[in-house]
Amino acid sequence: MPTPGPHAMLPDTSHDEAARLGFIFSFKEHIAGEVLPGNKITYKTKVEPQFVRDHNRPPKDRHEVHKEMRKDPYWQMWGSLMRLTQELKQESSESIANRQIRSLSDRATKIRSRARNATLRLNPDLEIPRYQTAVDIHLMPGNYYSERTEDDVMAGAMYDPGVFYFAMGGLGRYNQGMGDSAVRWLAEAHADFAPEAILDMGCSVGHSTLPYLDAFPDAKMDAIDVAAPMLRYAHARAESLGCAIDFSQQNAEHTDFPDESFDLIVSHILLHETSRKAIYNIMREAHRLLRPGGMVLHAEAPLRNRELDPYTAFIRDWSTHYNAEPFWGTLHDMDLAEPAIEAGFKRDNVIDINVPMVLDGSLMGGGASWMIYGARK
Ligand SMILES: C[S@@+](CC[C@H](N)C(=O)[O-])C[C@H]1O[C@@H](n2cnc3c(N)ncnc32)[C@H](O)[C@@H]1O
Repeated sequence: MPTPGPHAMLPDTSHDEAARLGFIFSFKEHIAGEVLPGNKITYKTKVEPQFVRDHNRPPKDRHEVHKEMRKDPYWQMWGSLMRLTQELKQESSESIANRQIRSLSDRATKIRSRARNATLRLNPDLEIPRYQTAVDIHLMPGNYYSERTEDDVMAGAMYDPGVFYFAMGGLGRYNQGMGDSAVRWLAEAHADFAPEAILDMGCSVGHSTLPYLDAFPDAKMDAIDVAAPMLRYAHARAESLGCAIDFSQQNAEHTDFPDESFDLIVSHILLHETSRKAIYNIMREAHRLLRPGGMVLHAEAPLRNRELDPYTAFIRDWSTHYNAEPFWGTLHDMDLAEPAIEAGFKRDNVIDINVPMVLDGSLMGGGASWMIYGARK
């Protein structure tokens, strides 16, 4: 089993905890490789033919497929296994972090008191948006923003190794694959683009922030998030890795940065955890913050439901209903050009592409990609 890249904030893992994570890792591989494909067989041989007999037509969208498939015992078994693995993973991450929560918080505070590279600005009065408070996103106990103890870093300590094991190492040892993929695309498609000021929105613990600093070492790098425990962890992690990043607790919909502060604004898997209204606000804010010629780029899973057959759209929509990611499906239904144009970007300058996935410096191959949505001002 691969292990996450070391840094000062990574929680220690005992032999038994590592064994448990190893089991979850292998169990996930087994479900993805051996159990998942049975859903399609069930659909094609049983559920779709029955639907056609009943309605004289195949299902028209993912909702109709879901309505029928959810009654099927095979799909119920797969869904239960998926949910169980996710709960096991969250429970394991929580117990590993909880066991050492005091020492991790103390470590972050100590690093902060001596920091030479990174800065941290928190705002205890910031209102956490309802799309964050309504559910514990992807079943993470307490979500990103809950404070359990003074100077809490618990959410970061659960999230950082949790992402590594959820992605089964597929984002790289420092979970930096999304940032690496966007950076590689920028280098190829916009070789002359040399941003002097960069903002990462919804940075969480900074997994995707660091690759931009590697690519543009002279740029001033800001990173914002609404969640203080993520930012405290992110700050100490970045400092321990020698990265000069200015972290601040802010809502990406309305920040306190002056107009035209940045050449490049990025986010990674932020949008699907917000709302339709928030996306319009985030694009308006990006337009305000960008200098002329600047770019906003949001990385997300490469799903556009209008391009998928109903079964594929259905199977990729599991998280909407069963993994507490309620906006996932709606985001992938949206015409994302609209919020960009409404924000003031020209239609011809809207970016909506797939870029190849990079894993630890190499292209992953097999068509693996990220969606990049955004615009140039
Ligand atoms: C899935 S994580 C992002 C992962 C991170 N960008 C990465 O690449 O590893 C989503 C993060 O967005 C933050 N967030 C959600 N809504 C936000 C908003 N309106 N403004 C700023 N941060 C937000 C959450 O607190 C959470 O840390």
